[in-house]
Amino acid sequence: NNALNTVMMGSVLEIIKSTVSTQEEARQRAELGAPEGTVIIAEEQTGGKGRLGRKWFSPYGKGIWMSLVLRPQQPLEFTSQLTLLTGVAVCRAIRKRTGLDVGIKWPNDILMNQRKVCGILLESTVEDKVVRYCIAGIGISVNIDREEYPEDLRDIATSLKAESGATVDRSLLIAAILEEFETLYQLYAQEGFLPIASLWEALSVTINQEVVFNTTQGLREGLAVGLDPSGALLVDTGMGNIVPVISGDVKLK
Ligand code: BTN
Repeated sequence: NNALNTVMMGSVLEIIKSTVSTQEEARQRAELGAPEGTVIIAEEQTGGKGRLGRKWFSPYGKGIWMSLVLRPQQPLEFTSQLTLLTGVAVCRAIRKRTGLDVGIKWPNDILMNQRKVCGILLESTVEDKVVRYCIAGIGISVNIDREEYPEDLRDIATSLKAESGATVDRSLLIAAILEEFETLYQLYAQEGFLPIASLWEALSVTINQEVVFNTTQGLREGLAVGLDPSGALLVDTGMGNIVPVISGDVKLK
């Protein structure tokens, strides 16, 4: 693709018509030694995977179903930072290409008018406590029409086209994402997570919102106030208690 201005991201780029999941395709390539920046894109996924064991609706030609092979030289506990970085890259690229007012819900759902347009799934393979590779899966509902959504998704999911009324060029958006990602990944390697965290907070629709989250003692709620240096969401539950939420989901109240 001659519109792609990156050095590393997409140096190997494969487009597949149909596959079960680009996560598995990328994992196979990574196991065979695919370099960092390898990108696998599918027109359709027959078994698209979401977070927390969910399915991901991936109809033919209507979205960006893509997985990136990353080889960060860092311990496993840093990979949640990479998840947030990926969300920032995608959010910035969507804003740049479409002008839509998308925001990030912690940890990394991209929302438009309270509905989800994009999800991110980061999977890491660890050996002897060292990360061998990460697969960053990005699913963006680009040109899905409202009536194409299955009934159960209609209230919670939307697409860029459904929100803007215009068909969005997927190749240009992919190029923008890979460029944003490469820039942020370099910034992260040089300056650490702090600059990424501020970018994330600026795009977040979760900060300054009342949220409900799960703990071992049941549901709790509070005001989301920011990210801690590891990427956990800090929630003020009152009486001076700030609780870090490390994994799972939060509900906006
Ligand atoms: C979520 O929000 O639950 C994460 C969704 C991630 C979907 C993408 S689409 C490309 C890649 N392949 C998959 O099977 N899943 C991810």
